[in-house]
Amino acid sequence: MEHSNSNPAATDTRGRVDALLGIVFGDEGKGKVVDVFAPRYDVVARFAGGPNAGHTIIFDGKKFVLRSIPSGIFSEHQLNIIGNGCVIAPDLFMAEARELEAAGYDLRPRLHISTRAHLILPTHRVLDRALEAAKGKNAVGTTGKGIGPTYSEKAARTGLRVGDILEGFEAKYAALKARHEQQLRDLHYTDYDITAEERTWMEGVAYMRQFTITDTVTELGELLAQGKSVLAEGAQGTMLDIDHGTYPYVSSSSTTTGGVCTGLGVAPQAIGDVYGIFKAYSTRVGAGPFPVELFDETGEQLCQIGHEYGAVTGRRRRCGWVDLVALRYAIMVNGVTKLIMMKSDVLDTFSTIRVCVAYERNGQRTTTMPFDTEGWAAVYHDLPGWQTDLTHITTADEFPPAFDAYIRYLEQELHTPITLVSVGPDREQVVMRT
Ligand code: GDP
Ligand code: IMO
Ligand code: MG
Repeated sequence: MEHSNSNPAATDTRGRVDALLGIVFGDEGKGKVVDVFAPRYDVVARFAGGPNAGHTIIFDGKKFVLRSIPSGIFSEHQLNIIGNGCVIAPDLFMAEARELEAAGYDLRPRLHISTRAHLILPTHRVLDRALEAAKGKNAVGTTGKGIGPTYSEKAARTGLRVGDILEGFEAKYAALKARHEQQLRDLHYTDYDITAEERTWMEGVAYMRQFTITDTVTELGELLAQGKSVLAEGAQGTMLDIDHGTYPYVSSSSTTTGGVCTGLGVAPQAIGDVYGIFKAYSTRVGAGPFPVELFDETGEQLCQIGHEYGAVTGRRRRCGWVDLVALRYAIMVNGVTKLIMMKSDVLDTFSTIRVCVAYERNGQRTTTMPFDTEGWAAVYHDLPGWQTDLTHITTADEFPPAFDAYIRYLEQELHTPITLVSVGPDREQVVMRT
């Protein structure tokens, strides 16, 4: 069922761009909340990333995992935009869009794609694998979707953009593919066969041509000037940002508020609220430093209760307690105005809830994000657990006191209000706090 109810907690969003950003290592539940918020906005736009994202939306007993298509697609009268800051794989886009069409969602009138978004070629994906293999034990643990090579190519000014598929595409494609093949030979990575994949990819290109491929920057500018409201849907998270994350164990795009401006072509003064979304605990998928990671039974429990397996690759997510060092840093970098806490129900059975308040290494303690996040251990503050099932709660005054105390402690430490709390995966399982 498409939903069209406007939210009673809605604030005035006219003529501005609100952003909803993952503020840790991704998979915070962005898709779910964008779907919940979508009826308040005229437009939902993705500004960064591509099919490395997996945004899960559950309603009426159905589950969708969106990768490139914005999570506003289930809301009536919604324009959805894939912005210039995104990268897009035509074959995966086609598979995703066809699944939605088969489920009864008519995408074509409601989905616009930027001419300036970059194309992920099949050979970008091979390069992703080859570069990871070459890194050996220092591999990033990418999603294998060709993200790094495609953004590298964008920065090197040799990439192909969606607008290129509209004219003289075959020659441009052949030239870029030939360059990639040379790069792969240089890496001594020759054992690959993309024949079948390339056929589907080309089919995807033809399919994409049936959509509105347009100058979404001017389109958004005009819509904002008319007083329309936009929700920018983040992908990945702040700690995976190319500039602000745990480099080099990051993705290759700007996942933070600055990325909203560059990835959609909107001015900084158009930005309204910045919603920072995080889980009541922490997860990370892929390699890289993660000071709160738990290797014990508690980590295993968080993983099992939270079903912490990647929506894109099925990989087990690493788990730990919530990390105030990372959250404070992300709130600062993004200018977060409102926090959203997800998956609170996953902590329902724990007798003690731990919160990482600082990192420690060789007798040195820090509460700000260090340059080198390797080798730091978490310092904790403990709070009592609520040991109550939260999943049926619909209003904040029903929260058990210990859960309320956990929320208030985080708000006080982070100097930012937690305005929405999620207590289960379904669209309905949200509790507004303002
Ligand atoms: P995204 O990438 O930020 O959109 O998040 P993902 O979809 O990758 O991962 C979030 C996972 O948590 C999905 O499986 C959701 O269905 C699930 N989820 C979202 N909110 C809640 C919640 O409040 N409680 C529980 N138990 N699961 C949730
Ligand atoms: P959503 O939008 C969690 C991680 C990968 C890897 C690193 C680089 O669903 O939150 P890449 O393929 O981007 O070059 O991989 O970033 N990563 C994510 N982790 N959620 C995501 O997206 C991610 N997208 C990339 O696991 O560590
Ligand atoms: Mg995800």
